[in-house]
Amino acid sequence: MANPANLPFLPPLLFLLAAALPALIHAFNITSILATHPDFSTFNHYLTATRLASEINRRQTITVLAIDNSGMAPLLAKHLSLPTLRNVLSLHVLVDYYGAKKLHQITHGSALASSLFQATGAAPGTSGFVNITDHRGGLVSFAATNSDDSAIPSPSPSSFVKSIKEQPYNLSIIQISDPLSSPEAEAPASAPAPVNITDLMNRKGCALFSALLAADPDSSKIYADSADGGLTVFCPSDAAVKTFMPKYKNLTAAGKSSVLLYHGYPVYTSLQGLKSNNGVITTLATDRGASKNYNFTVQDDGENVTLETGVTTAAITSTLIDQDPVAVYGIDKVLEPRELFKPEEDAPAPAPAAHKKGKKATTEPPTPGDAPDEAPADQVADDNAAAGGKFGFAGAVAAAMAAAAAGVGALLTNQLIKMSF
Ligand SMILES: *[C@@H]1O[C@H](CO)[C@@H](O)[C@H](O)[C@H]1NC(C)=O
Ligand SMILES: *[C@@H]1O[C@H](CO)[C@@H](O)[C@H](O)[C@H]1NC(C)=O
Ligand SMILES: *[C@@H]1O[C@H](CO)[C@@H](O)[C@H](O)[C@H]1NC(C)=O
Ligand SMILES: *[C@@H]1O[C@H](CO)[C@@H](O)[C@H](O)[C@H]1NC(C)=O
Ligand SMILES: *[C@@H]1O[C@H](CO)[C@@H](O)[C@H](O)[C@H]1NC(C)=O
Ligand SMILES: *[C@@H]1O[C@H](CO)[C@@H](O)[C@H](O)[C@H]1NC(C)=O
Ligand SMILES: *[C@@H]1O[C@H](CO)[C@@H](O)[C@H](O)[C@H]1NC(C)=O
Repeated sequence: MANPANLPFLPPLLFLLAAALPALIHAFNITSILATHPDFSTFNHYLTATRLASEINRRQTITVLAIDNSGMAPLLAKHLSLPTLRNVLSLHVLVDYYGAKKLHQITHGSALASSLFQATGAAPGTSGFVNITDHRGGLVSFAATNSDDSAIPSPSPSSFVKSIKEQPYNLSIIQISDPLSSPEAEAPASAPAPVNITDLMNRKGCALFSALLAADPDSSKIYADSADGGLTVFCPSDAAVKTFMPKYKNLTAAGKSSVLLYHGYPVYTSLQGLKSNNGVITTLATDRGASKNYNFTVQDDGENVTLETGVTTAAITSTLIDQDPVAVYGIDKVLEPRELFKPEEDAPAPAPAAHKKGKKATTEPPTPGDAPDEAPADQVADDNAAAGGKFGFAGAVAAAMAAAAAGVGALLTNQLIKMSF
């Protein structure tokens, strides 16, 4: 899979639909269902290779027209590129429910079903529909339509063989005799341009996090480079970023980068996948610096998926995009790594000076030593370095950073998080 295919950028309407989070939570996994049918292993393999499997799994109502291994041979003999094969296979996924019964009761004998090729906007013009015809005598045939809606005369017409799985009215998997194809689906397709994550987040309610990322070219590049191979981003809301800004400005440039990279998980994961695979995950920040783990725990509390860093617990509140190989989820807090921030419980007993400051801070977050939000980051950073000594740590910048986190920062964590500017 040197050149994984994915769909072109979806129109905004689909994002709005995808944003309705609870509707995404459902229970089927096409890969594991077909895995119990070895006759369909080739078809199943290519659903995964073309990344159509995740597209199928996140749909509510879907019919998969599966081809067995021998039926796949003529299609594979065409040696189509992966992006083109994706288009052809997406003709075999209907965005409506057709069980065996419904197929044999089609009113007026024929129906035009919308396929994933058509529904995702990959098909040009009006191509990408599948004409299902219920013939006299019980034969049901399938044919792809071309741009002027006429059925493509197929050298080997495809017909209904048997039902493989029916889960009314969400999922139907039926076997058809031969692959469907159309000139449009087989037209050479190139892998679409990768999703511009910064731009997407900017437009989808994470403008502030996106701006922080854009201001850090090295981190932006790591995000952009990771997108191809699979990436899940947890994007804090604007309100959460505003709340976090005083702490962010306190960090060194390296600390800032680590926080930004901590929000990226270099694996594509659907929400369903996050719910079913709870546990510790590593992040884009993990590889930076030998002993820095920068991991966090994904928990499914039944209704919501939460991310627990040991300092912060954030909940996933929306889906900005879920389009293999990239998923971006909105979260309600900035994730604070243990490597940079100390949880309140674990914080060492503060020195007297810090204690005084901390106590005051719990009721009144902007402490006298703090620069206002608008203060240049450099100025604040310099203040920090100077303040490092007061907390009894060595003068190194890293130590000053740790001191900022262990001192007032940690005591403020809960208060700051609850505030919305
Ligand atoms: C089936 O689809 C309906 C909407 O069409 C949805 O409400 C329901 O949750 C789905 N069930 C499953 C198991 O996906
Ligand atoms: C589907 O194809 C049949 C011929 O096989 C044709 O008679 C019918 O009109 C077509 N149906 C639609 C809805 O295009
Ligand atoms: C993403 O889009 C922004 C503008 O919206 C642009 O400045 C940036 O260069 C783009 N990044 C990539 C990797 O194309
Ligand atoms: C679906 O099942 C396959 C194989 O059983 C597994 O590798 C994959 O992670 C599953 N996908 C999800 C989203 O759980
Ligand atoms: C996660 O990071 C912590 C330290 O922050 C480390 O002790 C733990 O072993 C890491 N867990 C995994 C699974 O990498
Ligand atoms: C799930 O999250 C929503 C919004 O963040 C919240 O209102 C709700 O109480 C949460 N449910 C649980 C069980 O935590
Ligand atoms: C920033 O660092 C300074 C000095 O370490 C500290 O006094 C201040 O409380 C910190 N501010 C925040 C918001 O963490």
